[in-house]
Amino acid sequence: MTEFPHFPPSFEWGCATAAFQIEGGATEGGKLSSIWDDFCAQPGRIKDGSDGLIACDHFHRFHEDVALMADLGFRHYRFSIAWTRVVDEQGRANQAGLDFYRRLLTALHERGITPNATLFHWDLPSHLQGGWLHRDTAHRFADYALVVARELGDLLPRVATLNEPWCSAFLGHDIGVFAPGVQDRPSSLLAAHHLMLAHGLGLQAWRSVRRDTQLGIVLNPELCDAASDAQQDVAAARMAELERNDVFLNPLFNREWPAEILQQIGPLAEQRRPGDIAICAQPLDFIGLNYYTRSIAQAPVSAEEQRRGYRFVPPDPQRPDLTDIGWEIYPQGLDRVTRNLLAKWPLPPIWITENGAADNTPVTDGTCDDQMRLGYLQSHLAQLAQMVAGGIDIRGYYVWSLLDNFEWAQGYTQRFGVVHVDYATQQRTPKSSARWLQQLMSSPQA
Ligand code: FCB
Repeated sequence: MTEFPHFPPSFEWGCATAAFQIEGGATEGGKLSSIWDDFCAQPGRIKDGSDGLIACDHFHRFHEDVALMADLGFRHYRFSIAWTRVVDEQGRANQAGLDFYRRLLTALHERGITPNATLFHWDLPSHLQGGWLHRDTAHRFADYALVVARELGDLLPRVATLNEPWCSAFLGHDIGVFAPGVQDRPSSLLAAHHLMLAHGLGLQAWRSVRRDTQLGIVLNPELCDAASDAQQDVAAARMAELERNDVFLNPLFNREWPAEILQQIGPLAEQRRPGDIAICAQPLDFIGLNYYTRSIAQAPVSAEEQRRGYRFVPPDPQRPDLTDIGWEIYPQGLDRVTRNLLAKWPLPPIWITENGAADNTPVTDGTCDDQMRLGYLQSHLAQLAQMVAGGIDIRGYYVWSLLDNFEWAQGYTQRFGVVHVDYATQQRTPKSSARWLQQLMSSPQA
């Protein structure tokens, strides 16, 4: 018999998705386009040339997907609301889009599944000129948050403002591999500032109409080890962590950015106004941490790396301990990164809001035996059980993802679901990992 890791009975088990990655229904009910639609339309941006127009067709199949979650035993569901679906270009409520989420939320509540909504999982409305480089976007986000609070807040016990703002800021405006595809270091820092301002303004807006929602943010903190003991490599690893962690956590706790970061933003610093950090530092009811892997850094070489202050050393692709997307399987990192954060910032209660692996095992004879993902989940949940037993205040875990889906710049080439999706037929097939989670979630200790 399988030994399951032990968790307290109150521990929450869920699965996670995001609107652009699963919904499709791209033009239904007055939905507007997002910067990810625009990015997909640019040749060469997405590995397989695909887009999110249909994705998992969840927009039309949400009843089936909610039933699937319930059958597998998930009691919590983290998903995102598409900003482009629920407000129009003037920022007014779009009833058809809101109705979709009301139907989804009603279906979840009827099945005893508690929703956890993220307001922004990267799909910024295209019409917001200048995007995150424009301060006004933070105010438009607050207007959008207000619409959701008023129209759907009665069905939303827990809400996060942003998902992984590091990706929007740095993958989107420095490295340029995510929408909108800008490559300019100071711009990425300005985008990060405006994202955190949006978070703060969004929480203020939400609390102006509802006080009964648990509110927070979802980050993907970095654990970066130095490639060697050389002083330059150690400094590079520290710089990578400052960018990923301090840029986002400092404002949450009313602290200014480290000097190294302020130096990198240069003259754009003038666009950060006195009082902004205090707006970012709204009380948090929870923080969501997403964890997949760690990084290794060494001293920068190219001019571009020097602007950042580090270069990443990708793991040797021949190593056996990599997932199909090439990320190192490193369960100890979950513990190490959480402890690093707790040593530096007074975090509220934690939920692990994403964790999972790309395992592209196909369906054979009606089954998908994703052994690598299964091992990944087992090792990470064993690690998590130890952390919880050791007294770290982690209240729940959402596996990424319920379904195989549109994996951003990787298109449909990487499968993160515990349920396989055949994109030609939209057939859903639970994988071995889903069956194992189902047993774990129904085991007495869970
Ligand atoms: C995270 C994203 C999520 C998914 C996973 C694999 O960074 O939040 O949407 O793409 O990675």
